[in-house]
Amino acid sequence: MAKKTKRLLGKKEIKNGIKKLAQKLNNDYCDTSPIFVCILKGAFMFLADLIRELDVPIRIDFLSVSSYGDSSRTSGVVKIIKDISIDIEGEDVLLVEDIVDTGLTLSYIFDFLKRKNPKSLKICALLEKKVRRTKKIKIDYRGFFVPNKYVIGYGLDFCEKYRNLPEIDTMEF
Ligand code: IMP
Ligand code: MG
Repeated sequence: MAKKTKRLLGKKEIKNGIKKLAQKLNNDYCDTSPIFVCILKGAFMFLADLIRELDVPIRIDFLSVSSYGDSSRTSGVVKIIKDISIDIEGEDVLLVEDIVDTGLTLSYIFDFLKRKNPKSLKICALLEKKVRRTKKIKIDYRGFFVPNKYVIGYGLDFCEKYRNLPEIDTMEF
């Protein structure tokens, strides 16, 4: 790998973090069949591992967004590239996201889905950076807090690369 990286979360840590999240989800959604909306592309690996730990009859959908900005910073201008295909009106919905930084992306998506009148709408994010938050959003389920550094791996990219890494690293610029 050309760029300098430093290990932040190893395979075991990620696995354990996801198991803990799944325990909470199994408990909180035990009486329902929630729709998990995975935000592409970053959250695909997280979703795949998370749902394998669940024993509730979940349904899955995908939402693809693009954010205008440079590769390491979101501008807050979000465009929906692919909308979900399941009708979520009156349903319990959980947004599954890779990482929350400023909160602009998730806040836009939250408002977009809220207009479809789900019964409940909650957020599950694998990673959360606290420092640059400009939008107040409630993260109902969080895997890990991470430092204010650019992170790659486990679905997260830098210029579309490194999504396949099984661990999460910070990237030094
Ligand atoms: P926010 O809108 O500033 O909260 O940024 C969230 C989005 O930007 C996420 O959906 C990620 O796709 C991307 N992002 C933010 N921080 C990182 C990072 O450290 N590595 C990779 N992608 C990131
Ligand atoms: Mg993303």
